[in-house]
Amino acid sequence: MLFDHPEFDAHELVQFVEDEPSGLRAIIALHSTTLGPAAGGIRFHPYPSETLALTDVLRLSRAMTAKMAFGEVPMGGGKSVIIGDPRSLKSVDLLHAFGRAVDRLGGRYICGEDMGMTPEDMDVVATETRWATGRASGSGDTSPLTAVTVFDAVRAAAIHLWGPAGLEGRVVAVQGLGAVGGKLARRLVEVGVRVVGSDPDPARAAEAAARGITLVDPGEILAAECDILAPCAFGGVLSAETIPTIRAEVVCGAANNQLATSKDADRLAEAGILYVPDYAANIGGVYSGVIGLKGKTAADAQALADRVFPRVLDLLDEATRLAITPSEAADRVVADRLRAGSAWVARQSPSAVRRARRAST
Ligand code: NAI
Repeated sequence: MLFDHPEFDAHELVQFVEDEPSGLRAIIALHSTTLGPAAGGIRFHPYPSETLALTDVLRLSRAMTAKMAFGEVPMGGGKSVIIGDPRSLKSVDLLHAFGRAVDRLGGRYICGEDMGMTPEDMDVVATETRWATGRASGSGDTSPLTAVTVFDAVRAAAIHLWGPAGLEGRVVAVQGLGAVGGKLARRLVEVGVRVVGSDPDPARAAEAAARGITLVDPGEILAAECDILAPCAFGGVLSAETIPTIRAEVVCGAANNQLATSKDADRLAEAGILYVPDYAANIGGVYSGVIGLKGKTAADAQALADRVFPRVLDLLDEATRLAITPSEAADRVVADRLRAGSAWVARQSPSAVRRARRAST
């Protein structure tokens, strides 16, 4: 069943974890360690079924491989999901049991924070394994730098499409005014862009309104009258149903896995919408993770983030030159980097590979 799964894509390892005393049921998926240890967050979510949890973890870990390779990070792609409602199921014992499962992988998987997990939870996981990042005592909140790289990607797309005037006189619609979307919207307002936004959380909506963002109903944001749509809430928002309703000329946002299926990249192109692959834009979260590693500071993370604007501009130019979608162009870059990585690994002794992987963490 797993080999035939549409999202399997030759995952290197899929591990099912159960700890009866604490109620832990988790899946850890390592898509690729070709470029380094597989890194990716822990999503703690009340999945309606195990099948949906498996599909999610496979899609997310595969996307992490692409994000790392495209963002020039010497790491591979992985992800984990804990099945259950974090508000009722989460406990110190459960997080310890999960930490031990990560530790058994001996550094092949480096976990971090994702939906349903907090930096404080990561501190608890880290008492059982050194392969845990995103701790309250470490790099902390990743959303500020994610908002920076999404803003730069939005700016690059605007310049690609409308020339040097870029964002001048444009309207951006932001779906989800949370940690990343809220900061993105504020930054856009600061540079004089008109922003419409939506969030079902009344406090977040009110805060955004106070900063000059025009609110629309969450059910209307995808079809809002705008030039750029920035999905910053959840994945799967770009689908056969939603794409025909989108009025924006550009889609570029923070949410992971915005395309419901890979075919939706073509649907967007056919609708005349320029789509910036999510992993090209939201890489700032990964760059934040370097802070605190081997003496790296916020300035090092910012230097990595500074490369996003030219990289996205190059990607969009290349896609136009080859008459392919930006998703296809990005996939080609990822495939090239993975091929080069595999070729390098094949030429080294196992101990040299282990040394290089240790050096990259
Ligand atoms: P968040 O939880 O702080 O914000 C998400 C916001 O979306 C919340 O305020 C929520 O109320 C809102 N929302 C939920 N349903 C909505 C709907 N139907 N319409 C409009 N808004 C809705 O999460 P965060 O950290 O801002 O992340 C946003 C997205 O970006 C997520 O998909 C996340 O996976 C992705 N991402 C976040 C990174 C980070 O550093 N925080 C890094 C890379 C990706």
